[in-house]
Formats: sequence, C-alpha cells, structure tokens
Amino acid sequence: MTVTRREVALVTGASSGIGVELARQLAAAGHDLALAARRTALMEQLADELRRNHSVRVDIFQSDLGRAGAGADLHRRIADAGLQVSYLVNNAGATLEGRYLDFTAEEQISIINLLAVNPAELMHLCLPGMLEAGRGTMLTISSLGAYWPCFPGITVYAGAKALVVNLTRTLDAEYGAHGVTFSATVPFTTDTAFLDTPTNRQIVGRMPNSMIQSPQRVASIAIDGAAHGRLVQHTSPLNRVLAGLLTVMPPKLVGRAILAFMSMGRDDLNQHKNIPS
Ligand SMILES: NC(=O)c1ccc[n+]([C@@H]2O[C@H](COP(=O)([O-])OP(=O)(O)OC[C@H]3O[C@@H](n4cnc5c(N)ncnc54)[C@H](OP(=O)(O)O)[C@@H]3O)[C@@H](O)[C@H]2O)c1
Repeated sequence: MTVTRREVALVTGASSGIGVELARQLAAAGHDLALAARRTALMEQLADELRRNHSVRVDIFQSDLGRAGAGADLHRRIADAGLQVSYLVNNAGATLEGRYLDFTAEEQISIINLLAVNPAELMHLCLPGMLEAGRGTMLTISSLGAYWPCFPGITVYAGAKALVVNLTRTLDAEYGAHGVTFSATVPFTTDTAFLDTPTNRQIVGRMPNSMIQSPQRVASIAIDGAAHGRLVQHTSPLNRVLAGLLTVMPPKLVGRAILAFMSMGRDDLNQHKNIPS
C-alpha cells in the first residue's frame, strides 16, 4: 500500500539568519514547513509567526547536524511525522576559526558533517521521493569559500562548501531531466550572526556597509534562483567576478595572503600551541 505523506519544505538552520528568511518566504509562497536546527525555542517562535501569518503547517525538528548520521535521523523523524520533503534547503552552517590542529579531529569533522556529509545524506534520502513524484527542489546555501583554492584559518569550511556546489552540479547532470531542480546559492557577505566571529568582524570592518547584504535579500535571490532552475546563483555580480578570479589563483599565494590578512591584530593565529617547534 502506498502511504501518502504531506509535502513539506525542509529548511535546515532555521533558527537564525538566512534560514529564518528562507522559511518566511517559502511559507509566504504557501509551503508547509519542516524546520531543523539545535535551538528549538527560536524555531518555536518562528513557527508561531508562520502559522499565524500564512496558515501553513510547521513542524520543528531539533537536530545537531554536526553529528554523523544526523541527516538520516532527521529524514526518518520527518517521515514518522507523516511528511515528505518536496523542497530541501540545506542551509545550516558554521565555521571554526583557527588552524587545523587548534581543534580536535572530532570538532573539525563535525563541521564537515554539518556542511557536506549531512546535506549529501539528506539529498540522497529525499531524492527518490522527488523522482517518484516527478518534481522537487534541492536548494543548497554554499559560500564564496567554495571557490578559494585553500582557506587557512577556517580550514575545512571552504572544501566542504565546494563539495556541495559540485554535488549540486553533478546531481543536476544525473537527475535534472527528471523534474527535480538543483540549485546552489553563493551568498555575498550577509548580515547575520555568522559574521560575529573575530575573522569575519575583521573582514566586514573593512567593507562599506552598502556591500553587506540582508538575509531577506539573500533568501529571496536563492528562492528565485531555484525557481528559475539556476544551477549556481550568485547573490551579487561582484561575487561572480571574485569566484571566477579565485579559481585561477595559485593556492600558495592565496594561502599566504589570507594568513597575512587574518594575522593582523590576531596573535592567536601566529602563536599556535599545536604546531610542534
Ligand atoms: N552570513 C554570511 O556572510 C554567509 C556568507 C556565505 C555563506 N553563508 C552560509 O549561509 C548559511 C546560513 O548562515 P547564516 O549566515 O544565516 O548564519 P547564522 O545566522 O549563524 O545561522 C546559522 C544556522 O545554522 C544552524 N546550525 C549551525 N550549526 C548547526 C548544527 N550543528 N546543527 C544544526 N544546525 C546548525 C544554526 O542553528 P542552531 O545554532 O540553532 O543549531 C543557525 O540556524 C550557512 O551555511 C553559511 O555557511 C553565510
């Protein structure tokens, strides 16, 4: 017997920043929602707002997507609630600032789980239902980090973000002709809690305010990019130019330049207890 489940848009990282705005705009477009992140109180507040303003169903799933297997666990709980993901938004993200050995292997792997492994797992688990229905959307929020040849100081972030852009392109090649849309958005610097780290504060401090984008705008560009089937959606023309330039830059030069920039005023990046003398 075929079980008919209610279709939802799953937004990960829906407790803050771009994820909140993605949830708001998808609800305004009439999608029922599944929200996932660790901070349930913030998601409860958002869910109340969305139910009140848009009369949609909103379910909340507390999930630490830094854990191995969290994608599969989340997918199972969503199915147990009688829901089926027809619009997947892999948005949750965070960085660890410092060199590789400043954090435990477990901490570094948790970032790879969060940014790459669990998004890939969710895509694998949600795709069959979308293919069966002959429609669906997979939207991933990546980063300009995906285009840097290396990124000392945030170590695994850039490579993990590159994986999801590449996976988006690859899945489009493999399954795009079967009704499922794959789209990765590459935000420019966006005014969210994500910027509240020593390095990001340094970068933002050197930028004119007019260059910093709002999470509302980024969410709207991302949803529009997916609606128009854009494989990779940059949120500003400058982003697109930088992405092109970065891919042809020599990694050694880029690595040295980033370290020099990030070390300005930051003793912690110059004096590493974990570098053997
Ligand atoms: N802001 C920017 O300038 C910028 C630029 C390029 C790319 N991005 C990307 O945009 C996405 C959204 O970030 P944002 O700017 O909106 O930052 P944000 O306001 O800090 O939001 C990050 C979201 O990710 C969730 N998250 C973090 N760690 C998690 C974990 N272990 N398990 C589950 N959820 C987790 C957080 O929820 P909980 O803490 O409640 O778990 C929060 O909802 C990220 O993928 C980020 O890499 C941002």
